[in-house]
Amino acid sequence: MSPPDHTTPALRCTALTHRFGDTLAVDRVDLSVPRGSLTALLGPSGCGKTTVLRMVAGLLDPDEGRIEIDGHLVTGGGVAVPPERRNVGMVFQDYALFPHLSVARNVGYGLRHLPRGRRADRVAAALSLVGMEHLGARLPTALSGGQQQRVALARALAPEPDLILLDEPFSNLDAALRTAVREEVRAILRAAQQTAVFVTHDQEEALSLADLVAVMDQGRVHQIADPQTLYTRPATRFVAEFVGEADVLPGTRAGRYLVDTPIGRLPTDRALRAGEVTVVVRPESLALRRSGDGVGVVTGLSYFGHDQLVTVEVPGGYVLRSRRGPRLDLDRGDRVGLEVAGQVVAFDHSSQHGAVDTADGVPA
Ligand SMILES: Nc1ncnc2c1ncn2[C@@H]1O[C@H](COP(=O)(O)OP(=O)(O)OP(=O)(O)O)[C@@H](O)[C@H]1O
Ligand SMILES: [Mg+2]
Repeated sequence: MSPPDHTTPALRCTALTHRFGDTLAVDRVDLSVPRGSLTALLGPSGCGKTTVLRMVAGLLDPDEGRIEIDGHLVTGGGVAVPPERRNVGMVFQDYALFPHLSVARNVGYGLRHLPRGRRADRVAAALSLVGMEHLGARLPTALSGGQQQRVALARALAPEPDLILLDEPFSNLDAALRTAVREEVRAILRAAQQTAVFVTHDQEEALSLADLVAVMDQGRVHQIADPQTLYTRPATRFVAEFVGEADVLPGTRAGRYLVDTPIGRLPTDRALRAGEVTVVVRPESLALRRSGDGVGVVTGLSYFGHDQLVTVEVPGGYVLRSRRGPRLDLDRGDRVGLEVAGQVVAFDHSSQHGAVDTADGVPA
């Protein structure tokens, strides 16, 4: 086998498939993770995220498909490299620290094959990376949630794995701590130039932390893209609605890049083929102005200080949301004109169910 070069992905899954009885938990998943990147697997509960991680870690055998780590085949074609020989670190949702072992012994757990001196050096380096060098003698039970999270990360980093897998790593932390800890974890992974894949069902977490986000639903990957592409050029309607706030209107094709909707004719971000179209409107792209002959009526208003969310009913009974600045100049019952900034994301009937790729965000 030729040695991996810098273009070899740290992880490549091809047509990975797993069934639990009648449940198709993971359905022909293709995933390529560049070296040194932080990739999120994002999707609703039960969509197959943990099952993908377990297969990559070698804890579960797929029914079909291949897994390569750093260019080496570890699963598929009759190969099944055991977990301990994959050079993959894992951080579980509950951290799974050994309660009776000190922090330092937890971190050194995967280094038992090393001579004592080198092991101590690696433990010290890993603890220092997570800012826990002074707490090596503590028991995990005497640590805060955020500190336990860091110990779990140090334990995964210590053997210098090719890949770290993190399953919902922040879900045990309260909201206030979560934002701080996830920024910290990102900085630690970056400092170690560590390739990592983390699982989350929180779209904000995925968008704000990851270089690449793979959006999953019902065992399938709908799109893998950087956060901005995912948000502005969703490949499927599922991605459009799962990532960010989105309201949906029906439309009729009025041209290759034009659609007629209950709020007028709008330019689309992609070419339309079929006559029936679904249009996605993001609240931040919808501007409202009071107007006696406007087509919308304000039905609700939530004021947040930094901004406000106004709901508007439009012809056909559809409801759209508009996120606008803090100035209060509309009231329930006001008639408003609507203007959508830029092009709208639109799916014609031929693209709605397809899964997809990508590269330019347009389903084939
Ligand atoms: N050991 C198992 N036996 C039977 N079915 C399972 C098993 N593990 C998972 N499943 C099913 O496989 C599907 C995918 O589960 P998985 O745990 O991968 O989802 P997930 O995306 O990680 O969800 P969550 O966000 O809730 O953790 C679900 O329908 C789940 O019920
Ligand atoms: Mg899970």
